[in-house]
Amino acid sequence: TLTPTRADKFSFGLWTFGWRAQDQFGSATREPVDTVEAVHKLSELGAYGMTFHDDDLFAFGSTDAERQHEIDRLKQALADTGLIIPMITTNLFSHPVFKDGGFTSNDRDVRRFALRKVLRNIDLAAELGATTFVMWGGREGSEYDFAKDIRGALERYREAVNLLGQYVLDKGYDIKFAIEPKPNEPRGDILLPTVGHALAFIETLEHPELVGLNPETGHEQMAGLNYTHAIAQALDAGKLFHIDLNGQRGIKFDQDLVFGHGDVLNAFSLVDLLEFGGADGGPSYHGPRHFDYKPSRTEDPQGVWESVSANMQMYLLLKERAAAFRADPEVAEALAAAKVDEISRPTLSAGEGYAELLADRSAYEDFDAEPYYNGRGFGFVRLQQLTLEHLLGAR
Ligand code: GCO
Ligand code: MN
Ligand code: MN
Ligand code: MN
Repeated sequence: TLTPTRADKFSFGLWTFGWRAQDQFGSATREPVDTVEAVHKLSELGAYGMTFHDDDLFAFGSTDAERQHEIDRLKQALADTGLIIPMITTNLFSHPVFKDGGFTSNDRDVRRFALRKVLRNIDLAAELGATTFVMWGGREGSEYDFAKDIRGALERYREAVNLLGQYVLDKGYDIKFAIEPKPNEPRGDILLPTVGHALAFIETLEHPELVGLNPETGHEQMAGLNYTHAIAQALDAGKLFHIDLNGQRGIKFDQDLVFGHGDVLNAFSLVDLLEFGGADGGPSYHGPRHFDYKPSRTEDPQGVWESVSANMQMYLLLKERAAAFRADPEVAEALAAAKVDEISRPTLSAGEGYAELLADRSAYEDFDAEPYYNGRGFGFVRLQQLTLEHLLGAR
């Protein structure tokens, strides 16, 4: 069961395994990965999809002929392998022109250029059959409070997303947008820093139904937040349009580790939620299981492909462990003792309103709070211990 297949819907960004490992302190340690070779390799390893930024496939400033050449090579590789492109995204962060952002640069000419770059890429997404268009605004932000009018910038962000939505509607494309929050890096403070911020922003758009989220594990964790909670709230809002899985260890720079190589406990609850958190005990999310990680700088080409496989292995291993956890009668008993199911029961009875609640003496006047002192514990620690025993393969 730990051999990935296409039915698992695993996908990888071309920029992930393709990262040459240059960082703030050192130069690249690896050669670039060729697109065609990458498609074949991913297909061999069991992935079903690949994703990319425009600039990953053809360098910024490519001529039309150069651009088309790379698109044609990709299309051929897709045809040869059956791999698909479920998602496309636009690079509005690498080139110096975007040093103050794309949609929200203070420079209006840059904003207009950014919109044109994205519109062209949306056409490409439609051409390749991608149904999700990710927007990660890594350069949309500031370092200095007086350097950016944040309300103005949010208006420009909204203007941009509204325009793109209108374009997709008018063209009749089967494409939805997924905003990817991140609190910082490369900007000191990035706009729409968390899932919660982005959810609130989406509701201010002209067509909120076209826009959802692409939450990344490490990005919520960089903000000290619980990723599983973030995903649960995105699901609650009907906004989990895509997902970026990876690993992060605490509040520090964006590590982009292999999925599960960071907070493995949180990764466990996440996989359980995605795979078994649906109403019927089935999946709560049906889209690509997309990995946005970076093979560490220490890895050679063999290590790169091993790390690609490690992401899928970790996901499948956690899925297997989650199934075993759920099937264990002792876990079921601990869950029941912890009243985990009781949260699904409405607090008011059918037909009850505040008048009935106020009239119910058992809810207040006759309610006995006393037994909660030195009794009536929830047993959450026992449940957590069982969780860990399953995670460690001790059960
Ligand atoms: C990051 C982001 C990016 C985005 C990607 C898609 O590096 O912090 O995760 O990898 O996901 O640019 O737009
Ligand atoms: Mn990241
Ligand atoms: Mn990253
Ligand atoms: Mn990402």
